[in-house]
Amino acid sequence: MQRTLVTLLFILLGFIGVINPIYPETLINNEKVTPSYIPGLGEIMGYIQLRHAKLWFAGINGNWDLAHYELGELKEGFDNAQTYQPDFKGKPIKEIINPLTNPALNSLDQAISKKDFQNFKLAFNKLTHACNACHQSTGYKFIQIQTPSSIPITNQHF
Ligand code: HEC
Repeated sequence: MQRTLVTLLFILLGFIGVINPIYPETLINNEKVTPSYIPGLGEIMGYIQLRHAKLWFAGINGNWDLAHYELGELKEGFDNAQTYQPDFKGKPIKEIINPLTNPALNSLDQAISKKDFQNFKLAFNKLTHACNACHQSTGYKFIQIQTPSSIPITNQHF
C-alpha cells in the first residue's frame, strides 16, 4: 500500500514537471520562447573576459582582422547579457550596458579600422574602465579587470 502511494507520488511529481517546466519564458528577438537553457551572467562574463584578453593581443600585434572579429564577439557577449540576464538580481543590466560600454566599443571600432595602435591602446583602456565601473556599480568591485600581461591561451596565433 505504502509503495503504491510512493509510486503514485512520483508519477504525479513527474507530471507536474512536464506541465510546469522549470525554465521561464523569455523574449528572444521579440518572440516568446521557453529556452531549455539560460546562461548565467557569470558564465557570459567568462566569455567576455576571454574576448577582452584576445582583443588586446590581436590589437597590439597588429592582427587587425582578428581584433575586428574579437570586438564583434565581445559585443555579442554584451548583447547576450542583455537578452538572457536583463535584470540580474535587481540590477538593470539591459539598461546600463549600452551607456557604459558603447563609447569604448565605438572608439575601439575606429582605432581598429584605422589600424591605429595608439588609439587602440587608449580605447582598450576605456573599455577596461567600463568593465570595472559596472562591477563597482553592481556590487562586484572585487572583480577587477586589467590589461592582460600574458596570452591567455597558446593554441591560437595572435
Ligand atoms: C553592465 C555591467 C557589466 C559590465 C559592463 C561588465 N560586467 Fe563583468 N560582471 C557583471 C556582473 C553583475 C557580474 C557578476 C555576475 C554573476 O555573479 O553571475 C560580473 C562578473 C564578471 C566576471 C566574473 C566571472 C567569473 O566567473 O569569474 C568577470 C571575469 C567579468 N565580469 C569580466 C568582465 C569584463 C572583462 C568586462 C568588460 C569587457 C565586463 N565584465 C563588463 C557586470 C558587468
